[in-house]
Amino acid sequence: MTTLDLIGSSPKFRAVLADVARLAPVDSAVLIQGETGTGKEVIARAIHEASPRRHNRFVALNCAAIPSALLESELFGHERGAFTGACTQTKGRFQMADGGTLFLDEIGDMPLELQPKLLRALQEREFERLGSAQTVRVNVRVVAATNQDLEQLVSKKLFRADLFYRLNVIPICLPPLRERIQDILPLTEFFVAKFAASFAKPIDLIPDEVVAVLKAHDWPGNIRELQNFIERAVLFSPGSVLRLPLDPTQRMPQTLKQSSESVSRTLADADREHILETLKHADWMIGGQGGAADRLGLPRTTLIYKMRKLGIETRRPQRRPAKPIVKTPLLAGHFAAAAAGTL
Ligand SMILES: Nc1ncnc2c1ncn2[C@@H]1O[C@H](COP(=O)(O)OP(=O)(O)OP(=O)(O)O)[C@@H](O)[C@H]1O
Ligand SMILES: [Mg+2]
Repeated sequence: MTTLDLIGSSPKFRAVLADVARLAPVDSAVLIQGETGTGKEVIARAIHEASPRRHNRFVALNCAAIPSALLESELFGHERGAFTGACTQTKGRFQMADGGTLFLDEIGDMPLELQPKLLRALQEREFERLGSAQTVRVNVRVVAATNQDLEQLVSKKLFRADLFYRLNVIPICLPPLRERIQDILPLTEFFVAKFAASFAKPIDLIPDEVVAVLKAHDWPGNIRELQNFIERAVLFSPGSVLRLPLDPTQRMPQTLKQSSESVSRTLADADREHILETLKHADWMIGGQGGAADRLGLPRTTLIYKMRKLGIETRRPQRRPAKPIVKTPLLAGHFAAAAAGTL
């Protein structure tokens, strides 16, 4: 991803892009900090693409995803027979990234015992493969990222101070989406165009009230959360006007402080409501032409899977006596309508 593909026009995001342009030509280490989903990996790739190293490899390693016992070998490689199961000599990520960029994601999870070896590789650009006395020299630029507060880890002695300063030569702080509200509209337009094309479902209009609701939300999962939400909105919009998969006036959170748990609950409610509404219009027919799956633009099996997940019966509810049977207001309303014969 180059800086050209990065969406955002807020002053804070433009300042980040200006930093990327300034630091790309040099080889100094970069430390990208920011909440989850703010775009740390895309910025790391943008740095690589804007640098003279772009013709060589961008190698990424998520330090949190590899068991610590295997991390040393992943980073620095090993010789045949270095440990049980090491059948061949293997290059590590440092060597794979020679001439290019090594992206160390979730650097806060780097085990303490491995940190001196990493520090030496950064400072001296040399290391030894596991089980070998031979020194390997490499020319690698390191970009690291974390959503943890590394300085706090240093003060708790969970991260080495010398490694922190070595990585933090050029710090980049990615602001959360709620601090760059100006980026919400261009990002929404970008994701709508992307998903409309991939679902072959043209969307011609994003109404102002939809944008207002999106701007009012806190987005604890940042750009990733917005992207997933727009994917669902495009999928569930009945026509060519973007509709939020929920009632914007009642269900979309309006306050700026909202836990992600309650957001996902409202989104699940909205999904359930939309599916129930569609089933009602399709006379509870799931498959076939004009069935709910057809109307929602989903494969029948996907809809059935979603219905089960959301606790929706796959059959038309039986007519019931007036007494409500289901406790949740949504389904109670649904069954009340069934009982009244309006479904
Ligand atoms: N400025 C941007 N323009 C377009 N898409 C973006 C932008 N920033 C992030 N994204 C998209 O948002 C998603 C999350 O980005 P990314 O994986 O880089 O975040 P992250 O900060 O590394 O998250 P995590 O901390 O969870 O690893 C990706 O799908 C990415 O393509
Ligand atoms: Mg990431």
